Amino acid sequence: METLRTERLALRPMTMDDAEDLAERRSDTSTAQYQAWRAPYPVERAKELIADVTSRPGPLPGHWYQLAVVRLRDDRVLGDVAIWLSENGRTAEVGFTLHPWARGHYYATEATARLVDYAVFDLGVHRVEASTHPHNISSIKVLERIGFIHEGVRRERYWVEDEVSDDAMYAILDREWRIRRAQD
Ligand SMILES: CC(C)(COP(=O)(O)OP(=O)(O)OC[C@H]1O[C@@H](n2cnc3c(N)ncnc32)[C@H](O)[C@@H]1OP(=O)(O)O)[C@@H](O)C(=O)NCCC(=O)NCCS
Repeated sequence: METLRTERLALRPMTMDDAEDLAERRSDTSTAQYQAWRAPYPVERAKELIADVTSRPGPLPGHWYQLAVVRLRDDRVLGDVAIWLSENGRTAEVGFTLHPWARGHYYATEATARLVDYAVFDLGVHRVEASTHPHNISSIKVLERIGFIHEGVRRERYWVEDEVSDDAMYAILDREWRIRRAQD
């Protein structure tokens, strides 16, 4: 898949050189708190994830595809975004993570908006979803800032090992996204 660009960022396919950085990011407890993995996150696991993702040419139905978020001005990897496609390709789900030191600059908002652009305008997706822990306020703010609508909470749906939590559902439809983008 080609690199996606914004004013400050490049969203590019990962390579094995990203493995240590990915493991470090996922090992941070503030990052892992509401995620599907437990810290620490071994570098071997990061390598497996990257090998799996890069075995595909880009987002394919039924799979997640991760992209590294790189700051253009110094080429530093700030974090990653991910996109999942439903079997019929009509629905996408997105996720986003930044290193703690990269937070507080609207990078996650900028990167996620670019990924939604890609989903809607390039992939032709009808609906883009995101789900998050109801206490994950930073994540909810990113989603609401770019126009995702809160659709409800699925009770005790999200499992991490043997711990379950509620799952807050957010989504935006392609026509809603097009209207927002036309107003930008
Ligand atoms: C979710 C996550 C990516 C959000 O990161 P973030 O830095 O808060 O979001 P952005 O990069 O869009 O930055 C926006 C924030 O920067 C703040 N900001 C921007 N410029 C600023 C400045 N000059 N001074 C102070 N704050 C500033 C904004 O006010 C905003 O904070 P707010 O949402 O509290 O109002 C981050 O918390 C994270 O990686 N969490 C762990 C992984 C995770 O939970 N991912 C979500 C899974 S669904």
